[in-house]
Amino acid sequence: MGLTNGLNVGGEERGYGDRRGMTPVDKQIIIFSFYRDAELRGARLLFNIINHLKDSDSQLKLSRHLADETRHAWLWTRRIADLGGTPEFVPDGYQRRLGTRIGVPKGIVEILGLTVVVEERAQSRYMAHAALPNVDEETREVLKLVTEDETWHLSWIEKKMREIAREEGCADKADEILERYRRIDREVYETLAADEAELLRSA
Ligand SMILES: [Fe+2]
Ligand SMILES: [Fe+2]
Repeated sequence: MGLTNGLNVGGEERGYGDRRGMTPVDKQIIIFSFYRDAELRGARLLFNIINHLKDSDSQLKLSRHLADETRHAWLWTRRIADLGGTPEFVPDGYQRRLGTRIGVPKGIVEILGLTVVVEERAQSRYMAHAALPNVDEETREVLKLVTEDETWHLSWIEKKMREIAREEGCADKADEILERYRRIDREVYETLAADEAELLRSA
């Protein structure tokens, strides 16, 4: 199927905002597919970093971090399967749009900065979801598990980013990068937020 934009729901290609005939379960499957896509793309960033940071402490943390992100992708996949669905292909999701705007990060400090921003977005998406009144118990359990992990991910990656920037004699660069990436993240997320909120409201 020639997907260029939007989603493939029930064999039919649609834009994100097009919810014709979708059941609450269909909407849940779309939201969980967004989360799954973000986790998998997050894991891909870590695969990049694991080739750069060769010290033993980083290798240990990155291995656990990578295991967490792939487990998160699996938890969302299993949740989708439990609902009787299959993961939707997300060709134009958050990370894809973010990547298009940011371009290819130059050097390890920028890759780590991108990871920080992506982790922050994951955490805030999950927390906003968990704060909704109509979340079923199984989903709430997955949200709890993934949010707990995102907290330590964020803290060690940002610490490492600042440490390397300091070592390279450009501590200010870390702030500049984070400021720039966070601004782009807000702009990009803005393009998805209304649709996500609507899907969540009626899921
Ligand atoms: Fe994650
Ligand atoms: Fe994470």
